[in-house]
Amino acid sequence: MCGIVGYCGKQEALKVLLSGLQALEYRGYDSAGISLKSGNTIETVKTKGKVIDLITLIANSSINTQASIGIGHTRWATHGIPSSENAHPHFTERVSVVHNGIIENYRELEALLNQNGIKRKTQTDTEIIALLIDFFLKDKPFEEAFKEAVKLLKGSFAIAAISKDENFIMAAKHESPLVIGLSKNQTFIASDVSAMIEHTNSFIFLEDGDIAKISNEKIVIWDKNGKIVNRQPTTINWSKQTAQKGGYKHFMLKEIAEEDEAVRNTIQSRISEDGRILLDDEITIDEKFIKNIDRITIVACGTSFYAGLTAKPILEKYTGVKVDVEIGSEFRYYDYPYSKNNLFVAISQSGETADTKEPLRMAKNKGIKTLSIVNVKESAIARMADSCIYTLAGPEISVASTKAFVSQLAVLYMLAFYIGQKKGKDNTERSRILLSMPKLIKETFNATNQTTKELAETYHRYRNFLYLGRGLCYPLALEGALKLKEISYIHAEGYPAGEMKHGPIALIDENTPTVVIAHQKEPLYSKSLSNCEEIKSRDGKIILISDKPASIVDQTIEVPIVDYEFLPFIYVIPLQLFAYYMALFLGYDIDQPRNLAKSVTVE
Ligand code: G6P
Repeated sequence: MCGIVGYCGKQEALKVLLSGLQALEYRGYDSAGISLKSGNTIETVKTKGKVIDLITLIANSSINTQASIGIGHTRWATHGIPSSENAHPHFTERVSVVHNGIIENYRELEALLNQNGIKRKTQTDTEIIALLIDFFLKDKPFEEAFKEAVKLLKGSFAIAAISKDENFIMAAKHESPLVIGLSKNQTFIASDVSAMIEHTNSFIFLEDGDIAKISNEKIVIWDKNGKIVNRQPTTINWSKQTAQKGGYKHFMLKEIAEEDEAVRNTIQSRISEDGRILLDDEITIDEKFIKNIDRITIVACGTSFYAGLTAKPILEKYTGVKVDVEIGSEFRYYDYPYSKNNLFVAISQSGETADTKEPLRMAKNKGIKTLSIVNVKESAIARMADSCIYTLAGPEISVASTKAFVSQLAVLYMLAFYIGQKKGKDNTERSRILLSMPKLIKETFNATNQTTKELAETYHRYRNFLYLGRGLCYPLALEGALKLKEISYIHAEGYPAGEMKHGPIALIDENTPTVVIAHQKEPLYSKSLSNCEEIKSRDGKIILISDKPASIVDQTIEVPIVDYEFLPFIYVIPLQLFAYYMALFLGYDIDQPRNLAKSVTVE
């Protein structure tokens, strides 16, 4: 979703802003813009479309490229259509503002401005912020006018603003991420570290309610009570390289190819050679509680939700307790009946998903013990939970989540074995199998990369797909269908194979191929093959993903043999690759699919 970048230093701000915006493209957006402080004026260029369109527009403009203070933005439309007018920054003659989030009381504030003869020109809630600051500038300096305006805002926001008369940026954070990047004689601000990683490894993560004044030499931060605070910088050791494509055509393919490494990073320091799970340092919730957990409630969205659903039977088997897996956007409006020793688990790659964050906040308010499984360090969901286990998958840039999924699975499996361990069970043989996953993941990628590409070439013109699986293959059918929808815009439905006869079978004909996911474990394999018979007798085409080929199907994507309980780590790879190659043959923007955002920070 929206990306913010700001710069105050000695370099040409324009270059820093544009490369920062390019690094933020993965968040998903529909328009882009920048404002520069040039002498005693503010110059703004913005457009609907991609950062590359903005660069072309700037090249044909007379903007002062020497300016050393500026702000930039990629917008994902919420209030008002994607258009050049609605793109950020929003500005008056004296100030310019970029914003991520939603101002819930913007109509009230607009009425206040209207009473003073001030009118909005765009359809956005953000313009109200610029107009408010400008209004307060009548009798206050920029710093005070900004604070005064922010005081009136309700909703979620990360804001950066510049004034024509001052050499600093004012910023505010409430429920949307905002990070300051520190470097000698220059300061950066952005929605996440990827926009600044080529300049610095040292960051201050602003907290909710913070307001910051950022110049090239000095940073002042006020907390929600207006008190000056000293927030300690955190070092993030990502290299610029890790956030780049590294020779791959798309981040998505690179990230699928990195899944072995992602899982290795997730597990290597957390499982001893003899198979004991070493999570004591990270799970700081007291041991007595862990031993007595009587239910686990997992809340997540999108692919993270499917990771939870996939791991549910494993968690139930090894912890001996009931596990509920819930969708964040539903859970927040549902009065969930927590049990006595309920553990709440939030899963999120970005750590910023509003629909996952809110249930976590609600659980905390009820005094429920909370744990988060998050990829992005220091993100809101990571910090909010009582304990956090980082997935350590490295930066995931492509909007469609891939390597985060297998790393989330790895954490969930370790969590299952860990709670079991605390309850006195010996799961060491199982966790040793987990240790062998990175090698098998690599083999699977190599074994299925070419086949999935060839199949995608054959199948990319079909407009509807069905995905079927039983047992542990069922949630993978959902994830496989989601991947296909997200990036190739082909309608796909995931179903438990046994449900086919209760409805989806009506869809089967020669134009609706089915992807059947079946491990050789009996009786699941034979039952899945019976489904294949039913599909074939209705002229349906079948792609089988399995460790055991079958002659009845049209094509088999053969995967290495794996213990049944660990199949999700392996079987998901051809599903991801198939979706990737389908989108590739269709010529779509794979890393930034239409209408989607990487980090969905609004409800
Ligand atoms: C968005 C992304 C998905 C992601 C979901 C949850 O919809 O496009 O790829 O699975 O959010 O994101 P999270 O960061 O919470 O895992």
